[in-house]
Amino acid sequence: MFTTTELLEKINAHLVGLKFARQPQGLYEPVSYVLSLGGKRIRPVLMLMAYNLYRDDVERILATATGIEVYHNYTLLHDDVMDKADMRRGKPTVHKVWNENTAILSGDAMLVLAYQFMSQCDSAYLKEVLDLFSLTALEICEGQQMDMDFETRKDVTEAEYLEMIRLKTSVLLAGSLKIGAVLAGATAEDARCLYDFGVNLGIVFQLKDDLLDVYGNPDVFGKNIGGDILCNKKTYLLIKAYEQADENQRRALDAWIDAETYEPKEKIGAVTALYDEIGVKGLCENLMGEYLSKARAALQAVDVQPERKRFLEELMDKLTVRQS
Ligand code: IPE
Ligand code: IPE
Ligand code: MG
Ligand code: MG
Ligand code: MG
Repeated sequence: MFTTTELLEKINAHLVGLKFARQPQGLYEPVSYVLSLGGKRIRPVLMLMAYNLYRDDVERILATATGIEVYHNYTLLHDDVMDKADMRRGKPTVHKVWNENTAILSGDAMLVLAYQFMSQCDSAYLKEVLDLFSLTALEICEGQQMDMDFETRKDVTEAEYLEMIRLKTSVLLAGSLKIGAVLAGATAEDARCLYDFGVNLGIVFQLKDDLLDVYGNPDVFGKNIGGDILCNKKTYLLIKAYEQADENQRRALDAWIDAETYEPKEKIGAVTALYDEIGVKGLCENLMGEYLSKARAALQAVDVQPERKRFLEELMDKLTVRQS
């Protein structure tokens, strides 16, 4: 059985070794650029960990794990265009270093490359893996569309928000775990429990991402702080702020959300001050705690020796207190 660090090293070694020996450079350079910037690699690590619950020959699924990471990085290229985000992993985003067309097209190429990697899996499971991967990728598009649609709405409910983040974020963590389990020949029930674990962990993960977008340290987080506030993203923080605001606070929130011209720093400062006053950070942390319990219960239900689940448990706890 491998430790988290060992699995991370394996996936990083595999990613570093990738050479895109095709032309034109303008298409492939941004692919190498974004993959070289690191990141937590949690999706491939989750896949390897799920597989490693049952089998020790993790090398056999490194190409599939690489596929998930390349796919995730593709979503980041497009997401950063959609969110007008200039920084990622402490470096300028692809559409800043090159331009938006490059981010779109190199992203498209990465989606295709991801399929090439995914389909290198054991042919006995090829259809099941590709069906799950395709459904997951479609759901992520659905979640991303909801995320954008919500920017111009003020009546987004907590339930709608939770469904949106399940789609845009959770299903990829869940799908990574399930693919790992499927490739290891796990029972359908175990694969389902691991998927369920990933869905709940993903909710915690996105709630934390939304918190860090307001309260994180940009040098550690690697992204600009306040991007969600500037886009009027309907995060749990904003939804709760509206719900709990008194009359004055609601008016102040409305003014910032409706403002067409403003100094970005000023809007971020003012909305953050309202969040602090209303006390939404604590509410967000409470909800994270609830989903963490659900994640823990789902992992407990996986029918392997508790000892083998310890790295998944550790990772779950680490992701909750992460600062990047
Ligand atoms: C960013 O994912 C997108 C979200 C779902 C919040 P990560 O936080 O896993 O980004 P990297 O890969 O570690 O940079
Ligand atoms: C992440 O949502 C969802 C996907 C990338 C599919 P965010 O927009 O919050 O992710 P970051 O904060 O830019 O990493
Ligand atoms: Mg974004
Ligand atoms: Mg986004
Ligand atoms: Mg975010």
